[in-house]
Amino acid sequence: MYRAVNEIDMGAELEKVLITKAEIDAKLLELAAEIDRDYAGKDLLIVGVLKGAVMVMADLARALSSRVTMDWMAVSSYGAGTKSSGVVRILKDLDTDIAGRDVLIVEDIIDSGLTLSWLISNLGSRGPASLEVCTLLRKPEAAKVEIDVKYTGFDIPNEFVVGYGLDYAEKYRNLPFVGTLAPHVYGG
Ligand code: PRP
Repeated sequence: MYRAVNEIDMGAELEKVLITKAEIDAKLLELAAEIDRDYAGKDLLIVGVLKGAVMVMADLARALSSRVTMDWMAVSSYGAGTKSSGVVRILKDLDTDIAGRDVLIVEDIIDSGLTLSWLISNLGSRGPASLEVCTLLRKPEAAKVEIDVKYTGFDIPNEFVVGYGLDYAEKYRNLPFVGTLAPHVYGG
């Protein structure tokens, strides 16, 4: 057994826990059941978008009862600060040729939607048999582009969230829950 970082360890850096580990686990079980059903008899490839999606990929994959293959992409958004610009550079491409494959992109969060919109068009041009999206979190109020998301865990308010893969300046990714950061931490 391990002892994860908890709210008490976070002290004044944490404003509040938005989604608990138990809520995440329960939601991933629900999503996994839907994915198992929808892709029954198919050879599904799940694609995680580094780095944020590491936790969702690891837990979602283990909640699936069908066998899947896993691959990873790393992308980086050009532009100022922490805001996504929609102009994306591939830092690590897939190892897999996805032509004719059933592909499910797995994300931790859809914020403006610009990263995913670019990714869908990039992967879509490689001729997959199907291409869908699963995201743990989505911020409807922050959307700049409409994205057809087949599996969504939680719609959340437009707040600065960290944990469960999500970072602020590369910190907080290993929190087992999703929380909001106290404004003094990020100068808000
Ligand atoms: C985050 C997240 C998405 C993207 C969403 O990644 O994992 O890929 O931002 O933002 P958008 O909808 O506004 O485009 P980030 O670029 O922070 O990299 P990381 O996963 O390595 O933290």
